[in-house]
Amino acid sequence: MTILQTARLTLRPQTQADAPALFDILNDPEAMRFWSRPPLTRLAVAQGLVREQQQAMVDGLCRYWTVWESGEAIGSLDLSLIENGSAELGFLLRRDRWGAGLASEAAMAVAGHGLGPMGLKRLAAAVQTGNGAAARVLEKAGFTLAQTRTAVLMPDGARRDCAFYVRGR
Ligand SMILES: CC(C)(COP(=O)(O)OP(=O)(O)OC[C@H]1O[C@@H](n2cnc3c(N)ncnc32)[C@H](O)[C@@H]1OP(=O)(O)O)[C@@H](O)C(=O)NCCC(=O)NCCS
Repeated sequence: MTILQTARLTLRPQTQADAPALFDILNDPEAMRFWSRPPLTRLAVAQGLVREQQQAMVDGLCRYWTVWESGEAIGSLDLSLIENGSAELGFLLRRDRWGAGLASEAAMAVAGHGLGPMGLKRLAAAVQTGNGAAARVLEKAGFTLAQTRTAVLMPDGARRDCAFYVRGR
């Protein structure tokens, strides 16, 4: 898996050692506000999640990059549900680094890699209504709004309104 470099960030393939840095984000209620699961409260759960993601990468289902800024792990980007030339983009950043354009910078790099060297034809992303920052990140990374749907069933059983963004054909 490729290391991606942007002006300010290095996106390295995720490793199990990244779990504590990811836990710092996954246990933040504000960062988890638009996720379909509550904030994690134990590092062991984050370690288990990273183990699952590592296995899914081995199985070729997805790719996870950890975002590094000045030697510090501050976020994660992923391409998941890789199938038939398409994939879904996901991203999250530690809260103290929000608002500096970093997620957009990283999303542009991952989208460009997916549609370029990886040979994917189409990227998609789902954003819950109210997550204006995520919608804007996608727009800045070249995605366009494809459709909105109400009361979409989430993995936790809740129903939320969502917007679906795409880039590519
Ligand atoms: C979404 C997230 C990654 C954004 O990270 P970030 O580094 O702050 O994003 P950027 O600075 O690159 O861009 C954010 C853009 O959204 C805008 N924005 C911020 N809050 C906003 C809001 N409530 N409504 C509309 N736009 C908003 C910013 O002004 C900026 O746009 P601009 O550059 O045109 O001014 C970060 O908030 C996060 O990790 N959230 C939790 C996880 C998450 O929701 N992930 C997305 C799941 S689909």
